[in-house]
Amino acid sequence: MITLRAPAKVNLALEVLGQREDGYHELRSVVQTITLVDFLSFAPSAELRFFCDVPALVTPRNLVVRAAELLRQRAGVRQGAIIRLRKRIPPAAGLGGGSSDAAATLVGLARLWGLDDRPEALAPLAAELGADVSFFLWGGTAQVAGRGEQVLPLPAAPPLWFVLIAGSAPVADKTRRVFAALQPEEWSSGERVARLVAALAVGTFDPAACFNALTAPALRVFPSLASTLVQVQAVGATPLVAGAGPSVFAVSREGQEARRWQQALRQRGLPARVVRVLSSAR
Ligand code: C5P
Repeated sequence: MITLRAPAKVNLALEVLGQREDGYHELRSVVQTITLVDFLSFAPSAELRFFCDVPALVTPRNLVVRAAELLRQRAGVRQGAIIRLRKRIPPAAGLGGGSSDAAATLVGLARLWGLDDRPEALAPLAAELGADVSFFLWGGTAQVAGRGEQVLPLPAAPPLWFVLIAGSAPVADKTRRVFAALQPEEWSSGERVARLVAALAVGTFDPAACFNALTAPALRVFPSLASTLVQVQAVGATPLVAGAGPSVFAVSREGQEARRWQQALRQRGLPARVVRVLSSAR
C-alpha cells in the first residue's frame, strides 16, 4: 500500500493580468504549500474504488476519481485500485484541497501501477483536471503562470507562520463566480509577483509584499467575508483572502506573533489555527 499526504496551499501573491481567449484569466502567483494536509492511500485492486471519511465527497465528480480514471485511460492500465481519502482540508475553501488530492492521486497511482511518477510526466494530465492541480505535483514554493498550470519551482521560502481562518463556500462553482466578478480595473501587470519572486530568489521575504487580486471579487461573491477581514485587522494582523476565498489568513515571520493573533481571534469567536510552510508536497 502507498500512503501520501496532500497539502493545502496559500497564494502569497496573486495578480490577474487579463482575460484570455479561452475564457480563463491569465495569472501570475506565488503559491506555497502549508502544514494542513489530507491523507490518501492506494492499494492494489482489480476495480477502481474510492472511499472518503466525508461521505458527501464520494461522487463520480470528485477530482480524485476523475484523476484516477484519466490516468488509467491515458496510460492504458487494466488494473484498478482502492483509494482512501482522509479529509482534513475544508472543501471549497480557497486552499486547493481538491486539486491537491487530485495531484496526490496521479502520483500515488503512477507508483502503484509502475508508471513514471515525476511531476514533468504527470503535469499534462494535471492541467486537464484543473488549473491548480499541476502546482501540487511540485508543492513547496513556486511561481505559477498561465491559467495556473505553468509551474516554476522557487527556492524554499524562509520559515513563515500563518494564522488561518478556514471557511467553506456555500455555493457550487465558487471559483468561476469569483473570477467572473473580477473587474478589468483590478487587472495588473505582474510586477508585484515578479518583485516577490526576486526577493525569494535571494532568500528574503516581506509579508507586506503579499497581495491577492481576487480579494475584491471574493467580497462581492461572499459579502460576509468583510467582517472576518475586519476582525483580523482588529487584532493587528494584515488579512489576506486565500485563493478565491472564503478562507482568510495572515502571514508572520514569527511563530509567537501568529499564536498571539490566533488567541485574540479565538477570543472573538473565530476558529483560527496556526500553520507553517511545508517545503515540499511529499
Ligand atoms: O480550472 P478550474 O476548474 O479550477 O477553474 C474553475 C473556473 O475558474 C474556470 O472555469 C474559470 O471560470 C475560472 N478560472 C479563471 N482563470 C484561471 C483559473 C480559473 O477564469 N486562471
